[in-house]
Amino acid sequence: MSNLDVLFEPFSFGRGHKIAKNRIFMGPMTINQATEDGHITPWVKDWYRRRAEGGVGTIIGAAAFVSQNGRGWPNALGISDDSFTPGWAEIVQIAHEHGSLFGTQLFHGGAASPSSLLGHQAVSASEWADKDGEPARALSATEIETIIEEFANGARRSVEAGCDFVEIHGAHGYLVHQFWRRDINHRTDEWGDPVAFPAAVTRAVRAVIGDSIPLLYRFSVHADVPDGTNNPVTPDELQHFLVTLEAAGVDTWDISCFRDSRRGYFGSDVLLPDWVRQFSTKPRIVAGNLVTPADTAEYLTDGHAEGAALAKSLIVDANWVNKARQGKSAEIRAIEGDQWMSIFQGNDPGA
Ligand SMILES: Cc1cc2nc3c(=O)[nH]c(=O)nc-3n(C[C@H](O)[C@H](O)[C@H](O)COP(=O)(O)O)c2cc1C
Repeated sequence: MSNLDVLFEPFSFGRGHKIAKNRIFMGPMTINQATEDGHITPWVKDWYRRRAEGGVGTIIGAAAFVSQNGRGWPNALGISDDSFTPGWAEIVQIAHEHGSLFGTQLFHGGAASPSSLLGHQAVSASEWADKDGEPARALSATEIETIIEEFANGARRSVEAGCDFVEIHGAHGYLVHQFWRRDINHRTDEWGDPVAFPAAVTRAVRAVIGDSIPLLYRFSVHADVPDGTNNPVTPDELQHFLVTLEAAGVDTWDISCFRDSRRGYFGSDVLLPDWVRQFSTKPRIVAGNLVTPADTAEYLTDGHAEGAALAKSLIVDANWVNKARQGKSAEIRAIEGDQWMSIFQGNDPGA
């Protein structure tokens, strides 16, 4: 077995019969090339087509806002009403034509949604302002119920579009994560329990997608930077979070380690996915600076993850997987500085 063969083993989500042809995921990436109101454009189709042609086993779609009140960026993709379903169906079809699986990432920006985009003040678990952000107001209990329903509707549309799975964006300091963060969530009602909202969203999504579609949940422990102290979760709290969400219906963890999936957490040398393994037997996808095929294969071989989610590497080279499989790793384009950011100007540097 070549040392890269591990990349090309099948991946199974822990539910349903769909098996990804390899263990490489295209991580969710917001690229801001949708129409102004968040619909799929030819550019977006080509972007996903190239990565599917390039051999990735599974594509996790860009964060898609489930609610107009949760939009994060201009020209970001949406799934907040039924008019969005046909566009996602086209993307699913493109992925399937090339043998890739596809699922959406359901998103609400919460306090991170700019008021200039929303036309009004953003919302969060409690009144809160991010370090450079504008103050958000606390959601009412009724509004919270509405947002849970909006996540469920986004999931229903994903299934109607033919998605192979659905992912909840519970990471990176956006709304679902804002509820989990004790430094933000100071509520005194039932939603003040940091896992109540993540679990309610998970249950609602599980209820609409049925028993056979895998439900992925992306989380991160630190909100902004790896060394940030702004989400002082303890291992016990992580365990409680994982156990609760598993009971609510999560099948696969998508663990976001920001820029470094090889650093220890909670003051130890133990990597975050290895902490997760202590508390959950579910498959783990890990994201964070897995760059070369050799590094990624080593990470999988060492048992830190069952799947690897690549982001910037797939921006700069849509053919990363095919090149790795063909023994042409040396031809994979390297990430050079911030060049990949040209994507926001409408280039596709990986084409
Ligand atoms: C352009 C860009 C857009 C991103 N958009 C999202 C997103 O929509 N949802 C999400 O969960 N993570 C998003 N991320 C984070 C990536 O999925 C990934 O976790 C992170 O970039 C680390 O992986 P990498 O080192 O392979 O780039 C984005 C990253 C980049 C570079």
